[in-house]
Amino acid sequence: MKDPLVIFTPSGKRGNFPVGTPILTAARQLGVDLDSVCGGRGICSKCQITPAYGEFSKHGVTVRDGALSEWNSVEERYKSKRGLTEGRRLGCQATVQGDVVIDVPPESQVHKQVVRKRAEAREIVMDPATRLYYVEVEEPDMHAPSGDLERLVKALSEQWGLVHVEGDLRTLQMLQPALRKGAWKVTCAVYHGDGLGPARIVQVWPGYYEGTIYGLAVDLGSTTIAGHLCDLQTGAVLASSGLMNPQIRFGEDLMSRVSYSMMNPGGHKEMTRVVRDALNALVSQIAAEARIEPALILEAVFVANPVMHHLLLGIDAVELGQAPFALATSGALTLWARELDLDMHPDARIYILPCIAGHVGADAAAVALSEAPNLSDDLVLIVDVGTNAEILLGNRDKVLACSSPTGPAFEGAQISSGQRAAPGAIERVEIDPESKEPRFRVIGCEIWSDEPGFTEAIGAQGITGICGSGIIEAIAEMRMAGLVDGGGLIGSAAQTGTTRMVEDGRTHSYLLHDGSAKGGPRILVTQGDVRAIQLAKSALYAGARLLMDQLGVDAVDRVVLAGAFGAHISPKHAMVLGMIPDCPVEKVTSAGNAAGTGARIALLNSAARREIEGTVGRIQKVETAVEPRFQEHFVAANHIPHKTAPFDLLRA
Ligand code: FES
Repeated sequence: MKDPLVIFTPSGKRGNFPVGTPILTAARQLGVDLDSVCGGRGICSKCQITPAYGEFSKHGVTVRDGALSEWNSVEERYKSKRGLTEGRRLGCQATVQGDVVIDVPPESQVHKQVVRKRAEAREIVMDPATRLYYVEVEEPDMHAPSGDLERLVKALSEQWGLVHVEGDLRTLQMLQPALRKGAWKVTCAVYHGDGLGPARIVQVWPGYYEGTIYGLAVDLGSTTIAGHLCDLQTGAVLASSGLMNPQIRFGEDLMSRVSYSMMNPGGHKEMTRVVRDALNALVSQIAAEARIEPALILEAVFVANPVMHHLLLGIDAVELGQAPFALATSGALTLWARELDLDMHPDARIYILPCIAGHVGADAAAVALSEAPNLSDDLVLIVDVGTNAEILLGNRDKVLACSSPTGPAFEGAQISSGQRAAPGAIERVEIDPESKEPRFRVIGCEIWSDEPGFTEAIGAQGITGICGSGIIEAIAEMRMAGLVDGGGLIGSAAQTGTTRMVEDGRTHSYLLHDGSAKGGPRILVTQGDVRAIQLAKSALYAGARLLMDQLGVDAVDRVVLAGAFGAHISPKHAMVLGMIPDCPVEKVTSAGNAAGTGARIALLNSAARREIEGTVGRIQKVETAVEPRFQEHFVAANHIPHKTAPFDLLRA
């Protein structure tokens, strides 16, 4: 008689197995993704499956008892002590008795997908570099002397097939007590690295470790530092936190920090110290939020622009301030947490993504990993908007990258009433083209300024200023309402027909909010504000246009706005200002913090690290600082929306 047929879903893998074969064994033989930490001892419950007992017929599966073995004592004990969801069995204990369909639920798959919120975002598939292994180690024997570490390594090899595993001094220091406390059974966290060198034992716990191991994905920006704490087994984001980069006191933008380093001997060391202190503050903040010990963070991934990358590493960034903008290294790095003075597990590995070029850093590489232009059929333009815009353009044939010095205006700096995006800041603006009267929305308040109850809703916080997205919308709306001309000049009261124009010497300002009447400061959009935004948007457009020239195209299929700021820009207003090349407005989407997402992908999927290292090597870099056409594009883009390029939206 033929052996029973076992079919696994959702993979569809199938095979015949002798009666008595454990489901976990069948899964492994077929290459089905079924998790296990305890190696089939009925301890970890990672191998849970949902069987559909039965015979196969044209009606599907008929439920029938006896396709799997009865519950054995190990499974019974597990269920009575810890409970099992109705209908679930432990795959390592249940054995094949007849034809059966076995469903492997997502939480039992090693390579499970992590849910991402955006429909068009690429999936994150779990393939972490650090994994847990439960092993039973031989006891020492006077007649066959070998060290505890050697017997642990042997157990990992025999029970898990790990062939090249090493331990460090700290492993030795924790190993003996752990083995004895656990009665020769321990759980090891093993870091697999790139698969070329040895795997390394990071931590040893006595017995079966039931807790969670954690990883941290960090986007180290010049203005803000954002971190996400992830469960390294499920991929779930357990806590997210951010803080201001304290290096701001050395200079708002990157070049000021490079200048600080040039003019102050040892200045880079000072900047390294404060950014590492800030990272430690972030670690303790995020660990407190998740109520965990920072020592349980076993891995971290960092992405940063080239200057922050160097300053994190303790490398003077002075070479990045002058041509040829040489990086100390453009390659990916794997370091020990202690090398960067980070207060997490002392043997935690820190992976830093590769840099693309002297001005296009590991943060842009992370955006490329998250948005995958190299896998796109469409020609996609991705702009990560910050004090420096990092721009990628391409599709599966070719990807180009550059950075463009937009300055801090998009973040609310250099704007008369500008502030960072925080409660109290005006973030949305509309101006009636007939009456020229504005209405706006403020961060932290749900209703528009002309709606009943606004004054009460805004509460004590009041209106404190205008943030980057607010000033972009304000100027774009002024342009559409005829208050600003194509050259960026604000008209007078007589020219525009509104008493909201305030004369300011030889220029004019538009009164957006009369603070004296409604509380808070008066908020004006000044001629200087318009000029600052013109410069920033011209730099952004010129960078994108330069890449389009290099690729020999006049249009792109879609635009992705990345970065925290990109998430808040209204595509329509960006188009009206001519910040980005013309494109159907519905084809402009926001990717949120794509650099942070790229860091998370690299944290949770070690194969993605190899993938981005390969991709970065193929990205063609374009240096805006030495391209004469950049200046031409910059000047033409100073016009709103542009001197020559058509922008259909504004005409409509
Ligand atoms: Fe651990 Fe089944 S593999 S309980």
